Amino acid sequence: MFMAELAARKHVQFILSKAKEKDSYESVLMEHIRLNGAYWGLTTLDLLGKLDTVDVNEVVSEVLQCQHESGGFGGNIGHDPHILYTLSAVQVLALFDKVDVLDTEKVANYVAGLQNEDGSFSGDMWGEVDTRFSYIAICCLALLHHLDKINVEKAVYYILSCKNHDGGFGCTPGGESHAGQIFCCVGALAITGSLHCIDKDLLGWWLCERQVKAGGLNGRPEKLPDVCYSWWVLSSLIMIDRVHWINKEKLAKFILDCQDIENGGISDRPDDACDAYHTYFGVAGLSLLEYPGVKPIDPAYALPVDVVNRIILGIKE
Ligand code: FPP
Ligand code: ZN
Repeated sequence: MFMAELAARKHVQFILSKAKEKDSYESVLMEHIRLNGAYWGLTTLDLLGKLDTVDVNEVVSEVLQCQHESGGFGGNIGHDPHILYTLSAVQVLALFDKVDVLDTEKVANYVAGLQNEDGSFSGDMWGEVDTRFSYIAICCLALLHHLDKINVEKAVYYILSCKNHDGGFGCTPGGESHAGQIFCCVGALAITGSLHCIDKDLLGWWLCERQVKAGGLNGRPEKLPDVCYSWWVLSSLIMIDRVHWINKEKLAKFILDCQDIENGGISDRPDDACDAYHTYFGVAGLSLLEYPGVKPIDPAYALPVDVVNRIILGIKE
């Protein structure tokens, strides 16, 4: 089924070289989201079977240095805590089976403290509300085994209040449907066992219409295709059991066409510049498409299936 080949070795080199170049222009721009970058890069390495090329103790120590006394994590050392980087920290530690280095109760209290009266979540103490933060809180607390610290029923109710007539979901009630927000809402509903609240055919129809002629997926009607939507759209279609509604071969070809086969890395569209974000979501998309040699990824937790089995189901391999 797969016509082109994944340049896996080159992508591993690309990710490892990104991790090293601390003083480059790009890494200065990315400084505030270093923990996010660690999650994208290290999960890519794990999916490609190369996590053992990094020093576990070094990663654990770098992650812990980003923790704030409130229990939350900043994007880098000395930065203010935010729920987004707190999930990245937990996900990175999960990859190495090191979640237990954390005071999980303290981290969970930070996350739970961001739930609002209406069930929604703020991203940090400044209060911006978004369904991205609902997903992050629920995913993070599930990985920490502390969903009991929030009102799950209200959280689900709030997410459902962001559902639109087209079957999709937005950032806040009435917000336009967007594939990134749909992933967040469907993922949160999957983790809390609430997928029965979705009209799967209606949402599946909106999602499969995201595939353009070239095979790639876009995030909203009329937008250009982008490799990262291979993740946001495909993971959602898998969670609602409608993945057979898109052409998988054409999507795989689009992702593979976005590779830089000389220097490694994947870009948003063919011939654009590569970055760690699109490299991760490209490889993760291929994982969802069952590309040979790429480990399977869990569509709700956005972590390799073996990691999720270990943490959530307690299954050791
Ligand atoms: C599009 O972003 C994507 C989203 C809005 C979803 C983001 C989701 C999270 C941050 C939750 C954590 C995710 C994972 C995988 C653990 P964009 O800004 O690129 O959108 P654009 O296409 O409109 O530019
Ligand atoms: Zn993108």
